[in-house]
Amino acid sequence: MKNDYETFVSNFKKKSGIDLFFYKEAQMKRRLTSLRDKRGYHDFSSYFTDVQKDAELFHELLDRLTINVSEFYRNKKRWDVLEEKVIPHLKKTRNRIKVWSAACSTGEEPYTLAMILNKHISSNKFEITATDIDENALRRAEMGVYPERSLREAPKEMVHKYFKKQGLHYQVSDELKKDIIFKKHNLLSDRFEQNYDLIVCRNVLIYFTEQAKQQIYHKFSQSLTENGIFFVGSTEQVFTPGEYNLKLFDTFFYEKNA
Ligand SMILES: C[S@@+](CC[C@H](N)C(=O)[O-])C[C@H]1O[C@@H](n2cnc3c(N)ncnc32)[C@H](O)[C@@H]1O
Repeated sequence: MKNDYETFVSNFKKKSGIDLFFYKEAQMKRRLTSLRDKRGYHDFSSYFTDVQKDAELFHELLDRLTINVSEFYRNKKRWDVLEEKVIPHLKKTRNRIKVWSAACSTGEEPYTLAMILNKHISSNKFEITATDIDENALRRAEMGVYPERSLREAPKEMVHKYFKKQGLHYQVSDELKKDIIFKKHNLLSDRFEQNYDLIVCRNVLIYFTEQAKQQIYHKFSQSLTENGIFFVGSTEQVFTPGEYNLKLFDTFFYEKNA
């Protein structure tokens, strides 16, 4: 028989399409239990009954489990490697570069990509698709308005070139916006598009179970072109890249075998 949390996981999947079974259970359960307790429920069954009826509770729950933290040039040194090593590597054999920012949250990552790519390639020679499971995050990404702290790692000249200060916030320019297509996509259940030269997927795989991670690595590898590059977060190295037809290119970058 399913316990209280397991029943919640299956009911939540029916309602949202998100299968929490593939997220590390201890961590997720802790996050959701603290939210549930804060709202005054003592079990998941009574909490879910109200989540069904109350859109605000449902959105708060979605927000808690998606963890949208992001920033421009997150772990800046890795973006330097992308600029100095990965882009020259891709340009050597390609006229056009197709990029996927997977689990892009509120857009800081794909906009960082667009700033760097624009420096080295004309914008009609690359395309960026940016996806996330969270529609609210995608809406904010499309609006492109950010607090100053999210730009603390961004080079000053980039902030100057691509952002307009509006009160306490920074608005991204239309020039960058036009380089990115934002779309909803669930890494655990949707089809992966093919022929990407660069896939950036950072700071989401840490939340998934080993089994889910392995499936996703296989799919990313299949989605890459020969010698294409997979860029992961700074706590997310792939320990056995050979299993996925990948090899280490630089720390946190993997190259698809030819
Ligand atoms: C911590 S943010 C990472 C943002 C960005 N990649 C970065 O490194 O700054 C994690 C994102 O993963 C998204 N996410 C969680 N589960 C997902 C899934 N199954 N499919 C797609 N995106 C998912 C969340 O909505 C959230 O926006």
